[in-house]
Amino acid sequence: MVEHHDRVSSTQDVAKLKARDGAPEGTVVVAEIQESGRGRLARHWLSPSGGLWFSIVLRPGLSIERVQGIVLLSAVSLARAIRGRTGLDAGIKWPNDILIGWKKAAGLLLETQIQDGRPVFVILGAGVNVNNDTAMFPPDLLVPPTSLKEETGRDIDMESLLNAFLTDFAASYNLLKTDFDRILEDWRHLSVTLDMQVKVTQMDKVIAGRAVDIDDTGALLVRLPNGNVFTVHAGDLTIEHIS
Ligand code: BTN
Repeated sequence: MVEHHDRVSSTQDVAKLKARDGAPEGTVVVAEIQESGRGRLARHWLSPSGGLWFSIVLRPGLSIERVQGIVLLSAVSLARAIRGRTGLDAGIKWPNDILIGWKKAAGLLLETQIQDGRPVFVILGAGVNVNNDTAMFPPDLLVPPTSLKEETGRDIDMESLLNAFLTDFAASYNLLKTDFDRILEDWRHLSVTLDMQVKVTQMDKVIAGRAVDIDDTGALLVRLPNGNVFTVHAGDLTIEHIS
């Protein structure tokens, strides 16, 4: 079921309330405008009219360690949907960004409700700059923004982009349990992070080196100058190309 709203605080919050009320897996909440859209690390996510802002209720029955795999899977589905609907060369920047030409066109957010040590439901949020103007975005963003319209020079149909994503995601969702290696393979293929010189900023340290792979929890493996491989579970990543 896809539920459309004109204006909400955040589709994450609407979807979360629905999930608490028992909404089934696959319930989708879309809004034209979000007044308090949020991104990773509780950052503000600008959500004016013209973008695609939506959240999905998921009940994957996975352990906490495995749930992060949903971000990998959804990044693959979103990159493929954008490529399919626009012809643009969309790629994945770890952990949750979709880039076009080193600019950020979309971001993903996974919020997990945990009870007795297990995820009871997960809300997957996606924000895609489709036809909105990113010139009014703040100049100090970690990665400069772009929109699909700015990259193609034409209006993109948001409904068909959403449908392309949902179709791809639904077809791949079972792979989380049956063939996770396939998700990792697809992710590697669409990644613009691997083989790049990267810097990951965490609260208390900076890790710099070459991104060599991801593991099956979605962590990024970074080879340090001394040859050791460091497993990075979270942080802000800059790629030498775009920093
Ligand atoms: C990020 O890049 O930090 C993730 C951005 C996720 C934004 C989407 S828009 C729909 C959903 N509702 C929100 O408040 N956030 C996500």
